[in-house]
Amino acid sequence: MDKYNFNKEVSRAGTYSVQYEGTKAVFGADGLAPFWIADMDIEIASPIADAMKARIDNGIFGYTFWQNPKFYEPIKHWWKSRFDISLADEEISYAPSVLYTVGETVRQHSDSGDSVILTTPSYNAFLGLLENNDRQLAECPFIEDENGFSFDFEKFQTLCERDDVKAYIHCNPHNPTGKIWLKSEMERIREICLENNVYLISDEIHMDFVRPKESFVSMVELMGEDDPVLVTTGLGKAFNLASIPHSYFITRDRAFRKKLGRVIGAHGLGAANSLALAAIEAAYTECADWIDALNEHLDGNLQMVEDYINAHMSEWLSFKKPAATYLAWISFEPSGLDDDEVQKALVEIGGIAVSPGKMYDVGKNQHFRFNVASNRERVLEGLKRIHKTFEEITKTTEG
Ligand SMILES: Cc1ncc(COP(=O)(O)O)c(C=O)c1O
Repeated sequence: MDKYNFNKEVSRAGTYSVQYEGTKAVFGADGLAPFWIADMDIEIASPIADAMKARIDNGIFGYTFWQNPKFYEPIKHWWKSRFDISLADEEISYAPSVLYTVGETVRQHSDSGDSVILTTPSYNAFLGLLENNDRQLAECPFIEDENGFSFDFEKFQTLCERDDVKAYIHCNPHNPTGKIWLKSEMERIREICLENNVYLISDEIHMDFVRPKESFVSMVELMGEDDPVLVTTGLGKAFNLASIPHSYFITRDRAFRKKLGRVIGAHGLGAANSLALAAIEAAYTECADWIDALNEHLDGNLQMVEDYINAHMSEWLSFKKPAATYLAWISFEPSGLDDDEVQKALVEIGGIAVSPGKMYDVGKNQHFRFNVASNRERVLEGLKRIHKTFEEITKTTEG
């Protein structure tokens, strides 16, 4: 028997889960089969649960320092053993969340009305973050072809040269496309940002989800001393800890590291989440084989999605297994159907909640994002709901 059972059924009843209980607010209906927000229907690894339980048994939850070896050493071990990167303690800082760190870095390096570059499609929270902070979107759309998503360097260069453009939010692996950036692409991006005084923020929260034969290169690998570059990440995705808020960032920009630390303190957010510290230590020292096994499971799920679409839905959908993440970014361009029509049908006919493509873009998109981080049977059930939706909707439109 396999050491880990990722096909176990889990229940989120009574947990106020956004995935299940948020469908009414987002999709206008209760009780949909949810495959949208990026968290997993998979139980956390048992060493993490044990470490958090032991911390709870201690019974004391006073203010907690993160500046200690139990924070630094597991992180350094993980980065060395997973990515062959050696970090120094002073390069690593704790922060309340990845999105907080991205937002604060944007706020500190730009003024109201300035522009920030995003590749589109983009993680929807980045779009919201710019809007809510009165920053303009400088859009660098991916070019999609049969080989996947490529970066428009010419467009990027032009955007970086603009006076109003102050920062670029790089997402690697990329949500929602699942792209892993090549080292050569990242070298060029870093060079263009540095030449044009554009602050480079790399969100690497999905770094641990790569297909078994792929490898991930972190922007940390390219970071020079005092470079205006910051990498932010955490265990919220890989170890399914989104409701245990925490994150950490890595930068060699000493002046900004100090400044960001002060701003976090000024917001009253300087103390660490003690359960998160326990989880980080357990995950990064005891759960490497768990994440490897999980990646095998997710690879199987994504392969099933690709095979099912090719076998049963290729007249309407196209999809290629991504190099990273547990998110299937599925195109319905072949169907010729409209975004709103498809979204309505997925809810009303399929009874399924998948994230609509236009959430990740500024206009129409003709994709949806299907989260496959579940037991395999549940993913198959989701595919059948999508199948039924397209079967019926195309009947209606043809007839
Ligand atoms: C690219 C990316 N960054 C950040 C987050 C959220 O991170 P946090 O909860 O630590 O703010 C997500 C969650 O889906 C994400 O996909």
